[in-house]
Amino acid sequence: MSGVLHDKVSIVTGSASGIGRATALMFAREGAAVVVADIDAAGAERTAKEIIAQGGRAIAVTADVSAEADCTAVVAAAVAEFGALHVLFNNAGIIRRADAIGTSVDEWDRVMAVNVRSVFLMCKHAIPAMTHGGSIVNTGSGWGLKGGGNAISYCASKAAVVNMTRALAIDHAAAGIRVNSVNPGDTDTPMLREEARQLAEDWAAFEADAADRPMGRSGTPEEIAKAVLFLASDASSFVTGTALIVDGGGLA
Ligand SMILES: NC(=O)c1ccc[n+]([C@@H]2O[C@H](COP(=O)([O-])OP(=O)(O)OC[C@H]3O[C@@H](n4cnc5c(N)ncnc54)[C@H](O)[C@@H]3O)[C@@H](O)[C@H]2O)c1
Repeated sequence: MSGVLHDKVSIVTGSASGIGRATALMFAREGAAVVVADIDAAGAERTAKEIIAQGGRAIAVTADVSAEADCTAVVAAAVAEFGALHVLFNNAGIIRRADAIGTSVDEWDRVMAVNVRSVFLMCKHAIPAMTHGGSIVNTGSGWGLKGGGNAISYCASKAAVVNMTRALAIDHAAAGIRVNSVNPGDTDTPMLREEARQLAEDWAAFEADAADRPMGRSGTPEEIAKAVLFLASDASSFVTGTALIVDGGGLA
């Protein structure tokens, strides 16, 4: 397929669902081969099959991105199947809606492992495979740039992603690798609906909060995917180390 990612090879973590799924489908429509990596094996297969049904190239890899062996396997699958690696979208993430008192040490460790250690591990193993340069996009959040209530582990993890992104950008610019974060505001995905459940709020009440924000609504996964595509493609060739906010003006 022709497109802005023509002949590129990409990895999208957490692409069984939500923002990752929408981005994997968009990358494929723009010509990239996609390694669909997710802890949800059936969901990863579904996304990969959807891409192939639309004429794209994809493989599904079941992986827990907090585990180093799984990260090396994802990178190895990209190179073995498609012969190179150009784009890495570190998107997998989880949230626990609780304050410090209500967050167990296990929950803290799991959020930090899935949201932060995964980005370190995927970059550690993907960067050596990006032998002709590349683009890495890490998913932060509006709550990586400001605080939020009842989400202490999540806020800490996403702030870490934003600043780790800057450090990676500095270290790997000379190798032709750009590293940026995309920072979504509320986006209608299974994760956001799970947050409403954890807070015991009904969805309509949760969604009504968006009415106070400048654009008055939540985003769609495709609207986040478009920003990721910009950062992944040569359209952003002079952009590295940045934190791109995609939130309908929420942080403004
Ligand atoms: N939805 C929002 O409002 C919002 C806002 C800001 C940031 N984000 C971030 O966007 C990213 C995607 O979120 P989403 O809303 O699409 O969520 P989602 O729950 O719909 O999708 C997340 C995907 O990650 C996968 N995943 C979870 N743990 C994993 C692991 N250990 N290894 C591999 N895969 C794993 C899940 O199986 C799922 O397919 C997350 O990093 C999230 O923090 C979301």
